[in-house]
Amino acid sequence: KLWCILFNTVLHLYTARGLLLHELRKTNATKEQLYLHNHVQQLPQAIIIGVRKGGTRALLEMLNLHPAVVKASQEIHFFDNDQNYGRGIDWYRGKMPFSFPHQITIEKSPAYFITEEVPERIFKMNSSIKLLIIVREPTTRAVSDYTQVLEGKERKNKTYHKFETLAIDGKTCEVNTKYKAVRTSIYSKHLERWLKYFPVEQFHVVDGDRLITDPLPELQLVERFLNLPSKISQYNLYFNATRGFYCLRFNIVFNKCLAGSKGRTHPEVNLSVVTKLQKFFHPFNQKFYQITGRTFDWP
Ligand code: A3P
Repeated sequence: KLWCILFNTVLHLYTARGLLLHELRKTNATKEQLYLHNHVQQLPQAIIIGVRKGGTRALLEMLNLHPAVVKASQEIHFFDNDQNYGRGIDWYRGKMPFSFPHQITIEKSPAYFITEEVPERIFKMNSSIKLLIIVREPTTRAVSDYTQVLEGKERKNKTYHKFETLAIDGKTCEVNTKYKAVRTSIYSKHLERWLKYFPVEQFHVVDGDRLITDPLPELQLVERFLNLPSKISQYNLYFNATRGFYCLRFNIVFNKCLAGSKGRTHPEVNLSVVTKLQKFFHPFNQKFYQITGRTFDWP
């Protein structure tokens, strides 16, 4: 009997700890505890489809501040990777976090936005899914993209070309549209492919530049788009002068900033190259504003 009492006490404390941790940090309970408390793995009701270097991680982490949102921590790469896609929808569901039925699950895989096959595949899973696209001024995004690749090369002690050499075709002196960092920033072209499957109302465009400087209004727009009550507040976001970015406050004990790989210093780029790129992107930007109904003060 004593053993039984002891066992129950330990179990009780353990479960209470699990629930407390859940409150503190949504992902901390064990799978068994989660099953016990009616948690399920749900397919995402919303996906951050891109754009790479637009602020996709910051957006996902900040939305996860909302009590009705649960994030898939890793990029799943289900729809853009043929091998993963071949594993089937149950494999994808198995990658999702546990959540209560009233919560919504969100995942982010920025490669989805630019990968040919993805819109059709997502449509086949859920034709009424909500799609989030976070964008930054296209030239800045391209330089950010370059900076990430450059850092990877430097880590392997490899030399790499200058941004200017990659972004401008040496023979024609025109913008090199074969360069992936340039192509990814032609937002309207990619979006047009998505619109063959989804109506424009199913997309919400997030201003990635404003998410850096003043995140709350952008998050409130997303809450509205997802039909969620407005819960994220200024309390949840505080500016960290050392990081130079907003960080996240979940509660009195738990707060966090994004990893150091978010917010790299960009190399200085030749001004004439910047101007050339801005001119190149201009008509595509206009098209993007026209399609989405959201205008930015990009050059
Ligand atoms: P830079 O590294 O160019 O500054 P992604 O998550 O899609 O890779 O985007 C990375 C970008 O998110 C970073 O680009 C950074 O500017 C931006 N970002 C937005 N909000 C941020 C935040 N609160 N903390 C860190 N980076 C943030």
